[in-house]
This record gives sequence, C-alpha cells and structure tokens, in this order.
Amino acid sequence: MTQDTKDTNNKMWGGRFETAPSDIMQKINASIDVDYRLWRQDIAGSKAHCEMLVEQDIITVEEGAAITQGLDLVASEIEEGKFEFKVELEDIHMNIESRLKDLIGDVAGKLHTARSRNDQVATDFKLWVRWACEEQSAKIEILQNLLEDLSDKYDDFIMPGFTHLQVAQPVTLGMHLDAYRHMLERDRTRFVDCHNRLNKSPLGACALSGTGFDTDREMTAHALGFDGAMENTMDAVSARDFAVEFLFCSAQCGLNLSRLAEEIILWATPQFGFMTLSDEWSTGSSIMPQKKNPDAAELVRAKTGRLNGNLVQLMTVMKALPLAYNKDMQEDKFSVFESFDTLDLCLKAMTGMLDSATFNKEAMHNAAESGYATATEIADWLVRNLNMPFRDAHYVTGRIVKMAEEKGCRLDELGLADMQGIETRITDDIYEYLNCEKAVESRRK
Ligand code: ARG
Repeated sequence: MTQDTKDTNNKMWGGRFETAPSDIMQKINASIDVDYRLWRQDIAGSKAHCEMLVEQDIITVEEGAAITQGLDLVASEIEEGKFEFKVELEDIHMNIESRLKDLIGDVAGKLHTARSRNDQVATDFKLWVRWACEEQSAKIEILQNLLEDLSDKYDDFIMPGFTHLQVAQPVTLGMHLDAYRHMLERDRTRFVDCHNRLNKSPLGACALSGTGFDTDREMTAHALGFDGAMENTMDAVSARDFAVEFLFCSAQCGLNLSRLAEEIILWATPQFGFMTLSDEWSTGSSIMPQKKNPDAAELVRAKTGRLNGNLVQLMTVMKALPLAYNKDMQEDKFSVFESFDTLDLCLKAMTGMLDSATFNKEAMHNAAESGYATATEIADWLVRNLNMPFRDAHYVTGRIVKMAEEKGCRLDELGLADMQGIETRITDDIYEYLNCEKAVESRRK
C-alpha cells in the first residue's frame, strides 16, 4: 500500500478543500487496509448499479458499457495482484473508482450518479456477510457430518456421563458426540437465519434520503441476489445489526466449540486417558520429552476470547449512534473479518483433530464402572420392585454407595449380604442392573 501524503487534494470529495489532510488525519480516516476485502462485492454492486443507470436512461448504453468493461478490468487487476491499493484514497470504494478513471477516463465519474458511499458500503458489506454466513454454515455442516459418523462408530463405547464434572450416569461416547452435533445444528441455522434476515438491499438509499433520479432499487436488489430493497433509506444506510448478529452467531458457535475443546483437553490427559490425539494435531514440549500437548484444542478454547471481544466491540461502536451514517461505522469491518477468520480456523482445527483422534474404550468403560455411575439404577430398582417412594430409595442407595466407598469397591463388587444389611428386601437380581451397558440400554428409547 503506498502512502502519497502531500499532493492529494482528494479528487472524490476535495472540491471545497484548500489543502490535503494531515498525515495523521489520513491515517485515522483510511480503512483500505481492512476493507480491501470487500473488493469483489464492490465491483458486483457497481456493475448492478451501472446496469440500472443504463436501464433507467440516466447514463447512456455506451457509457454503461465503458464503465462495466473498466470494472471488469479493475477486478482482474486485483485478482492478479497487480492493483495498487492507495491509503490516500481512503477505502476500497474510492480506490476502485479512481483506478476506473485511470482506465476509462472521466466517464468513470458517472458511476456515482444516484449513489453514495453510504449505501455502497452497506451493500458491499451485506453481500460479504451474506457470503460469510454461507461459508460458515457449510463448514459447520462438515463438522456435523463427521460427528454423525463418529457417533455411529462409537455407539457402543460406554463412558461416564458427568454433571458437575463428577461421574453421574453411564452414557455412550456416541451419545456425547451427538450432543455436539445438535448444538452445531443450532449454530448452523443461526447463520442461515442471519443470512435470510439481512438479505434486503440498501443500494439506492444514497446518502440517507434516497435520490431524485428515477432509479429502480428493486432491479439492483434482484441483480445482487437480495430479496428486495430496504424500505426506509435512513435505516438502509445506518443499520449494522446484521453485522452484530453475524458476530453473535460466530461467538456462539465458538463458545460451543470451546466446550468440546475443553472436553478434548480433559479426555486426552493421562488421568482420564479417554482419547489420544494424533501426532499431527498435537505438539511437544521443548523441555519435557514425555509431553504431548493438545494445543489446537487449547487454542480453540482460547479463541472464544476474540470472538466474544469482537461482538462487544461492534455493539459498543453502535450503541447510541444517531441516525443515519456516522464514520464510527467504518469500524464495523475489522471485527467481522477477524471473527470470520477465527471461526474458520477453529472449525477446521476441530474437524481435523476429531477426525484423526482415537478413543480408548477400556479406559472409558472403567471410569464408568468405578464411578458409581449405576447408583441411579439401584434407586430405580428399589422403586420398581419394593414400591419405595423415590426419595427413600435415593437415601437407601446413598447408604449403599457410602458402603462401597468405605470398602473401596465398585457397586457390583458389594456382596448381597452387605446390601441386605442396609435394605433386607434386596434380592440378587439387582446385580443385573448394576451393569453399565444394561443401564444405557434401558434408557435408549
Ligand atoms: N469507508 C467508509 C466506511 O466503511 C465508507 C463510507 C464513507 N461515507 C462517508 N460519508 N464518509 O464506512
């Protein structure tokens, strides 16, 4: 990016100015280092606008053709890395328009008829966020498909289900992973909802109050794949709730991934020993040769910080902003791009990590067996067979667990006489229910 500070008395808006902005003014004002990512959307928006200007006889067919060809040329220059982005031209809109003028001459200036950067940027940004919603939902679906495969594969891997991170009741690894697939379904459809809600075009709202030219806003809206034009032009140029919503969708998905990441970190410890990460998805320690660290999972867990921060950033920018456009709103893109990149990485890392991990059936089973996970089965047996009120059954079972704890044994290792010492009516068919597989089976509906 070049910085030609001295000679520019801005050609786009400099008519009433005597001198060029100061270096620092230029620096704080410029957004090209961030919004260059909108170039495809800016070209698409300009082409749709140009076509409409021709259709409405606002510019001639020849002028329209020159502008369209010029825009295609600019697009290929950017695509091929030949385009020189200039800080003194502030943002992507003026960079592209200025280059268009270099290429096709003064007719380029006609493109901005019946348009303002305010509706232009809102349109570009909506197109970008719409694309981003599609990208993220597709990546979530890839992870969901993997989770579905893994859930089937590990359908008979018994493991302890936890509450308070204490062993609660036996579950299967398949069921546990399937829970995440469902969480991700809500995350995925949240992006779909965001996409659908934002899909109205701001283009043609101009600075804030529309235009006196006889434009056709529905035409540009449909050319750009929007469902229609936004009805209130002041709303059209100043709404950024679609970006806030996108940041929330990203943060919520990241939050769910961080929960899975945390479980992977725990499960991969030697203490749990439930899973082993592949070498490809682990790192070593430079001092302790025995270490195999779950860095990718830790980073997925940590990236939530950025995702949450980005959401708060834009909500803070937008809070109490009066209508309509304010330059504050230029600060809307960095966090959206950053959240997109961050979640993109997290989804790919989580998919790769899980796809190559192995699970230890025996360790999981042992943990379920040794954690009194079937205590609820005893209580339920007492209710069913002795017609005991559940509260009493809960108390009796608590005493049985305490006895097992004192003897340092599992529930199914207690003798019948021991249990009968607590409740005389217990019979030996209770042992059938102390088996984790049986407990899991009895709950499959
Ligand atoms: N770069 C600006 C932004 O992202 C474009 C809109 C500028 N509008 C204006 N009235 N200065 O918000």
